[in-house]
Amino acid sequence: MAGGARLAGRVRVTGAKNSALKLMAAALLATGRSTIDEVPDILDVTIMSEVLRRLGCDVSYERVPGTGGGRLTIDVPEKPSTETDYDLVRRMRASISVLGPLVARCGSARVALPGGDAIGSRGLDMHISGLERLGATIVSEHGFLVATAPRLTGTSIWLDFPSVGATENLVMAAVLAEGTTVVDNAAREPEIVDLCRMLGEMGARIDGAGTSTITVEGVDVLQPVAYTTVPDRIVAGTWAIGAVMTRGDVVVERAVAGHLTVALDKLVDAGATVEALPDGVRVAMEGRPRCVDVVTLPFPGFPTDLQPMAVALAAVSTGTALITENVFEGRFMFVNELVRLGADVRIDGHHAVVRGRERFSSAPVLATDIRAGAGLVLAGLCSDGITEVQDVHHVDRGYPDFVDQLRGLGAEVTRTQRPG
Ligand code: UD1
Repeated sequence: MAGGARLAGRVRVTGAKNSALKLMAAALLATGRSTIDEVPDILDVTIMSEVLRRLGCDVSYERVPGTGGGRLTIDVPEKPSTETDYDLVRRMRASISVLGPLVARCGSARVALPGGDAIGSRGLDMHISGLERLGATIVSEHGFLVATAPRLTGTSIWLDFPSVGATENLVMAAVLAEGTTVVDNAAREPEIVDLCRMLGEMGARIDGAGTSTITVEGVDVLQPVAYTTVPDRIVAGTWAIGAVMTRGDVVVERAVAGHLTVALDKLVDAGATVEALPDGVRVAMEGRPRCVDVVTLPFPGFPTDLQPMAVALAAVSTGTALITENVFEGRFMFVNELVRLGADVRIDGHHAVVRGRERFSSAPVLATDIRAGAGLVLAGLCSDGITEVQDVHHVDRGYPDFVDQLRGLGAEVTRTQRPG
């Protein structure tokens, strides 16, 4: 892509990847046909569709042109099979979210262990100990987690950390358990609220979604549902930061300001104009942004998924910023790529000290994961020449139509290789 672009115009955000994947897993909890709208047209959804197919579901996707998303129809058999292979879990860690629904629904599940990840070791201990507290027996054998439980029983669970994935898995298990489950120190992300809302429409009895204490009253059976995915706050945040970095003016359609409060406040501190509109958010920037410190935390804190973009923003702002990563230990690995673009960043443990400079200096760089890739693309827009981001298939996993949307906002971007 060519540097020097100013992102301006309107861009539409479809449903959240991190929600849609879990809504798809949740569909397993009811026999019959569920539909989910605003499901992003991305590789991870294709992989999750394949996970569900191998479990015996009929899955079809109908793209809605011009939206980045579409309708996913999932027909769940009365007796789904219960095994998810390594070839799929390896490609997408979120496949692990079928564990809870399968144990709850079928009394057993055999799900491959995900293994390593480019943003640090990502444990499953809270998923496992929580399911054990619900009465499941879990063993790890030959690279698989094997869970069995004739019927789960409600209990109280305290999470050591408000893990998004563990909260989701445990809530999806608890909805069909016998009795009441209380998950304490639960994650409060909008995607958790979205999942609980869908489960509620399926007939589950859940209280407290969006707070640290979620109470689930088990029911015997759930019904299929027609549901619409919550808008993607991380994609929305990426556009918002891109607008500031390129000193542009962007209306992010369907962005929910309340899902991005801290991130938008940081942009205001950086000098941007942020305006909540009835169906979106406008972000505009004149002149060079100021450096602002950022600390990633579970929701409602600054999202770790926007940390690479925050580092990229600071790298072209005036002054010095301290960026602290508290959620994933390996999440500064991409910084070496940003340094190739001339960024002045020093890492010390989970802190990054970023000294801003006027522009990046274009170079070929490597996307190491979805969000790092998006951060590098934004950096490329602020470079002094042509920047080539390689392994861009990572970005495709989180950003439907990214190149088209960038072009729509005025960037000069071309894709030289198709995904896969
Ligand atoms: C989800 C999101 C990811 C986002 C993250 C935090 C999806 C598909 N991914 O990931 O984009 O960055 O939330 O907002 O929704 N941990 C343990 N043991 C566990 C579970 C987690 O130690 O049993 C640790 C992880 O290693 C990590 C931290 O807790 O350091 C946060 O993980 P978690 O909130 O579970 O993130 P994910 O659900 O994996």
